[in-house]
Amino acid sequence: MTASKIFALSGSLRADSHNTRLLHAAQKFNTGQEIEIYEDLRAIPPYDMDLDTPERRPDAVRELRRRVEEADGLLIATPEFNYGVPGVLKNALDWLSTDWTKTEGLPLHRKPTAILGAAPTSFGTVRAQLALRQLFLWTDSDVVVKPEVHVFRSHERFDAAGQLTDEVTIELLRGLLTALQEKIDTAKATARS
Ligand SMILES: Cc1cc2nc3c(=O)[nH]c(=O)nc-3n(C[C@H](O)[C@H](O)[C@H](O)COP(=O)(O)O)c2cc1C
Repeated sequence: MTASKIFALSGSLRADSHNTRLLHAAQKFNTGQEIEIYEDLRAIPPYDMDLDTPERRPDAVRELRRRVEEADGLLIATPEFNYGVPGVLKNALDWLSTDWTKTEGLPLHRKPTAILGAAPTSFGTVRAQLALRQLFLWTDSDVVVKPEVHVFRSHERFDAAGQLTDEVTIELLRGLLTALQEKIDTAKATARS
């Protein structure tokens, strides 16, 4: 059986981002999936409805939508900025949420999705993840509910080389990927029937 394809998106542009490190850890500790990490978030322009048509979308947006559509599932690592989802991530998700033609399809619709987040504070992105869950209600995405992966005091969980070393977080991450895989398997079985 071919491995499921997961498209992973970090909401931080920071070079040493703990959230991006979590996605690299997901690649390393995967439970059978092929995980591709998106690296072009910086290239996504501010959402503009006038440009949001199949003909006028900026190339970076077109490419992002294509890659999400092709993926079996999404894995999103979000920082928390001012109690919410960082603007760059929210902006990308806005571009992924629309189909004004009603013919091309909605990239996030029913998409199996798992979220997690890291912060050096004590709350580990609880509020940002709740905001993300709210967004995914509108897009009708199929979001993993448990395990919840709130990586609080994130600076204590990686070694000097940026590798995830915290055993509890590794187990949670693997649990999240297993739950995401179950959603993907269900989606594939439904598509076949
Ligand atoms: C503009 C801004 C707002 C922030 N707001 C919050 C916040 O509301 N809650 C929180 O726990 N951390 C907050 N932080 C700290 C982030 O959790 C921290 O910078 C985190 O490491 C960012 O994730 P990264 O390591 O993936 O870049 C904020 C940081 C910035 C730059």
